[in-house]
Amino acid sequence: MKVAVIGGTGSFGTALAKRLVTAGYDVVVGSRDAERARATAAEIGAEGATNADAAGAAELVVLATKADAALETARELREAIGTTPVLSVAAELRFTPAGVLPTPEATSIAERIQAELDAPVIAGLHSLAAANLGGDEAPDEDTLVCGDDADAKALVLELAGRVTSGRAIDAGPLASARSLEGMTAVIVNVNKRYRAHAGLRITGVS
Ligand SMILES: NC(=O)c1ccc[n+]([C@@H]2O[C@H](COP(=O)([O-])OP(=O)(O)OC[C@H]3O[C@@H](n4cnc5c(N)ncnc54)[C@H](OP(=O)(O)O)[C@@H]3O)[C@@H](O)[C@H]2O)c1
Repeated sequence: MKVAVIGGTGSFGTALAKRLVTAGYDVVVGSRDAERARATAAEIGAEGATNADAAGAAELVVLATKADAALETARELREAIGTTPVLSVAAELRFTPAGVLPTPEATSIAERIQAELDAPVIAGLHSLAAANLGGDEAPDEDTLVCGDDADAKALVLELAGRVTSGRAIDAGPLASARSLEGMTAVIVNVNKRYRAHAGLRITGVS
């Protein structure tokens, strides 16, 4: 399956693209700059293209730009994406003296992206640190995925299960994305406190 990683030149996008290549996916790294995309892609055995060309060629589009550019990028790529399923990994964070917090918006970025697109939007992989994803081995942690479209969610659960050695867990409807995105703030606070790259492990689910 062909997966476009939009913003695939960043730390998370490159780590994900590399892991997807290892898992046997056909990957196209997207960037606002085609040359930058090709340079990153050449290092990991993928193709590189502009974000629009990458989205237009894919069967699954991962929006992996920096979080505060995700919504605008989705709007810009609306036509190129069409009805191709989209995975949103974005979590908006506020850095305060008290710690890292989610932004105060009532709805998740994933739901706001869904409102802009004809494509089904799935949210997930928020808790996978780029540092863990880009290591030699697939990260030994679970990952949570949510969404309203059963077929699109099945594609993303399959992908999530192939980029970790833990489990890909269905966390319910797209409305769960607000909580999944917010959990990123919790994990960043844990990372700061313990100088770690923490991940999640869900117990009691076989
Ligand atoms: N870092 C992590 O550990 C981690 C873990 C889980 C989820 N995430 C999520 O993954 C996403 C990417 O995180 P990151 O740390 O990889 O971010 P990043 O390195 O700051 O940015 C990723 C890419 O976004 C593109 N970009 C930057 N500004 C843009 C703009 N104004 N419009 C369009 N594209 C722009 C850039 O690509 P070009 O300049 O090449 O276009 C850049 O390489 C975020 O949504 C984040 O919440 C990150």
